[in-house]
Amino acid sequence: MSKRIGIIVGSLRENSFNQMIANSIPELVDSAEFEYISIADLPLYNADLDLGEGPDPVKHYREAIRKTDGILIVSPEYNSGIPGVLKNALDWASTPTKSAVLINKPAGVIGATPGVKGTILSQQQIRQTLDATQSYVMPAQKMYISQITDKIDSITRKLTDESTRKYLQRYVQSFVQWINQVQRLNE
Ligand SMILES: Cc1cc2nc3c(=O)[nH]c(=O)nc-3n(C[C@H](O)[C@H](O)[C@H](O)COP(=O)(O)O)c2cc1C
Repeated sequence: MSKRIGIIVGSLRENSFNQMIANSIPELVDSAEFEYISIADLPLYNADLDLGEGPDPVKHYREAIRKTDGILIVSPEYNSGIPGVLKNALDWASTPTKSAVLINKPAGVIGATPGVKGTILSQQQIRQTLDATQSYVMPAQKMYISQITDKIDSITRKLTDESTRKYLQRYVQSFVQWINQVQRLNE
């Protein structure tokens, strides 16, 4: 059966490059189903609100993650680190401690920037957070997209750079295999 992969984008910006990268994934990989999981309506994390199933947007967000076989995070880097909106979203997915939706969840990390360092520092922090949530972050393989403005069509705003498209395709195909490996480990 084909795997169901949730995509979480760490930018709320309408013309986000990372959202654009996320949008190109389904056309590159047909061996999985993809679903975008929005973090835009989540409140700021507050343990006083984190009772029972939590506020409605949190409940829907957690349920969406629970239904997936794995999640791909596609995120920018802010001030050499993880964007606050993404950290907030991962914190909401990390509770309740013993039954959180990220426990044992296969996860992959992708990032794009107009800069030259490809979101390396942000990805380190995202991996550190996912590690704390007991997710299974795909090891070794990394997906850093630098100088994104040179790799898209400025009018259609689609990813046109052929080597980046192949890199993204290979990364996501490997992620599908990673989901299979983690599922076998947890059988
Ligand atoms: C507050 C702020 C901090 C930023 N810090 C970094 C950074 O540390 N490294 C980097 O590569 N880009 C940084 N940028 C530039 C972003 O990579 C750029 O705005 C990018 O387009 C954001 O991703 P998006 O297009 O998906 O929204 C920063 C942007 C903002 C607004």
